[in-house]
Amino acid sequence: MSEDSQDLMSEDSQELIEQHIVRTGVPAHVAIIMDGNGRWAAQRGWPRIAGHQKGVDSVREIIRAAGDLGVGTLTLYAFSEENWGRPEPEVNALFNLLDTFLIQEKDELMRNNVRLCTIGNPDALPDKSRRLIGEACQELSGNTGLLLNIALSYSGRSEIVHACRELAKLVAGGQLAADEIGHKVLESKLWTASIPSPDLLIRTSGEQRISNFLLWQIAYTELWFTPVFWPDFGRKHFAEALRSFQGRKRRYGLVQSSQTS
Ligand code: IPE
Ligand code: IPE
Ligand code: MG
Repeated sequence: MSEDSQDLMSEDSQELIEQHIVRTGVPAHVAIIMDGNGRWAAQRGWPRIAGHQKGVDSVREIIRAAGDLGVGTLTLYAFSEENWGRPEPEVNALFNLLDTFLIQEKDELMRNNVRLCTIGNPDALPDKSRRLIGEACQELSGNTGLLLNIALSYSGRSEIVHACRELAKLVAGGQLAADEIGHKVLESKLWTASIPSPDLLIRTSGEQRISNFLLWQIAYTELWFTPVFWPDFGRKHFAEALRSFQGRKRRYGLVQSSQTS
């Protein structure tokens, strides 16, 4: 069989797989720890930054796939609070890539009806990135399709500490009683306040850890790990993760009704 006809066949089956996914029910919120850019580059003898550059293609492809499949929210872990400790040229390159992405992709995001928001500490971001994020969020705010949520200078622990501080201020000011603080009240002060918890968390690159991502929100999230490095992660891997999710039984600590007697 020629390579062309093989490609056509796999395109056909990818489409069938995606149609099946849509019929079976798509997770409302998918979060991704996009990991392995540096190792992808190192394998080729290239600088780590080349991996980050190639990773942008995967970002573009997965945003498109998530929108096409009807995912409600896609949260991408792009830069952790701990990532500030990386060498300055790498940090600068990452924010330059973010800036370029926001400038170059805004029209495409608009055409695809994508909304944009970010979580993380906004004060830590470079001024230019903060301005571009603000402009893009504003311009895309009227859209009604996929919500693209980018985690930047994000730390799950810092998010919870920040929420606790906000609540402590309200208690100190007499606007809230300590006894009124429950899950809902705490959630209302998280950076994800208006976003439901993820149904599915994907991590690429073979690492099986959370790395300080959405610590509160993933209490009952389904986890899916793949050895594929982020720059190699594409639509077919995303579909594979969604298929795996569809086969899971989520019990939330309860028993299935068929097993209660
Ligand atoms: C993920 O890839 C991107 C960021 C954390 C910003 P890495 O840069 O962590 O790549 P590895 O894990 O070193 O291969
Ligand atoms: C997690 O990846 C952060 C992002 C993907 C943005 P890291 O590469 O920073 O995490 P560790 O160091 O492997 O835990
Ligand atoms: Mg990494």
